Amino acid sequence: MNTLISHLSEAPAFHLRGVRYAYHHQQAVLDGIDLDINRGEQVALLGANGSGKSTLLKLLNGIYAPTEGAMQVMGRDIKSVAAGKDAFTFHQEVGLVFQDPDIQLFSATVFDDVAFGPLQLGLSVSEVQERCEEALTQMEIMHLARRAPFELSGGEKKRAAIASVLSLRPDVILLDEPTAALDPRTKWVLINLIRKLGEAGKTIITSTHELEIVPTIAKRVIVLGEERRVLADDTPERILRDRNLLVNANLIHPQLHQLGMDWSLQREVTPTNSHS
Ligand SMILES: Nc1ncnc2c1ncn2[C@@H]1O[C@H](COP(=O)(O)OP(=O)(O)OP(=O)(O)O)[C@@H](O)[C@H]1O
Ligand SMILES: [Mg+2]
Repeated sequence: MNTLISHLSEAPAFHLRGVRYAYHHQQAVLDGIDLDINRGEQVALLGANGSGKSTLLKLLNGIYAPTEGAMQVMGRDIKSVAAGKDAFTFHQEVGLVFQDPDIQLFSATVFDDVAFGPLQLGLSVSEVQERCEEALTQMEIMHLARRAPFELSGGEKKRAAIASVLSLRPDVILLDEPTAALDPRTKWVLINLIRKLGEAGKTIITSTHELEIVPTIAKRVIVLGEERRVLADDTPERILRDRNLLVNANLIHPQLHQLGMDWSLQREVTPTNSHS
């Protein structure tokens, strides 16, 4: 038993070898994925629409089991987690914020949604209350606690969905495009929170299309190519300076971004007359 516990606590956060995933026997969405992510790493996951970011995050969260290949998350075989074994303990450790907040919000009020996970853990009422207040404060949505999720704006729903995962205080947090549709101030609140959680030792994987936030939220970048594989795995500095890579991975478009500009995208966009 002690050997099992030390294996679980020392294992890397994610270990994937030859992972392939295909929906409903269709063509593979991900193929030949080899990846090791250590505990305490902050990773940004980049890739064009349909490159498999959300699918990979769902695999990492044990929602799907790989069609082929080996995969351990926090020392557990993901196939048994996906089949329901130790799923309760696993989901305390690894939390996923879905790209679509409507999937995550199903209770009568925002507070109930944020309290749902801690209540499932069987925590005392005061502990549940404390965790909810912390998560709602972190996302600056305390004032929305008594509102019904369907009464919220898109950005407010996103913040509520994130709070519903934060209240579980997972060691590993998977965020699927968390800043999409957020206004600049709210985006900053979230970016800052991701940075602080990273400094506190959490393992965080964030998928995003927003290149300018990458250096703040990650120390490592994984790029999924349009051919369903990992196209690059490097530091934010090196990835964001590699213009050919960014164009090939469809992360920037030559006619949307000025030739020779640096990754920070802070220079003005060159107007173009081309329609292509
Ligand atoms: N439930 C599903 N059934 C069948 N195919 C699916 C399903 N979900 C996603 N796909 C397909 O899998 C591929 C990868 O989708 P995925 O959502 O992982 O991409 P993504 O990188 O997250 O894209 P985006 O940037 O648009 O969010 C796409 O071709 C998509 O159409
Ligand atoms: Mg997606």
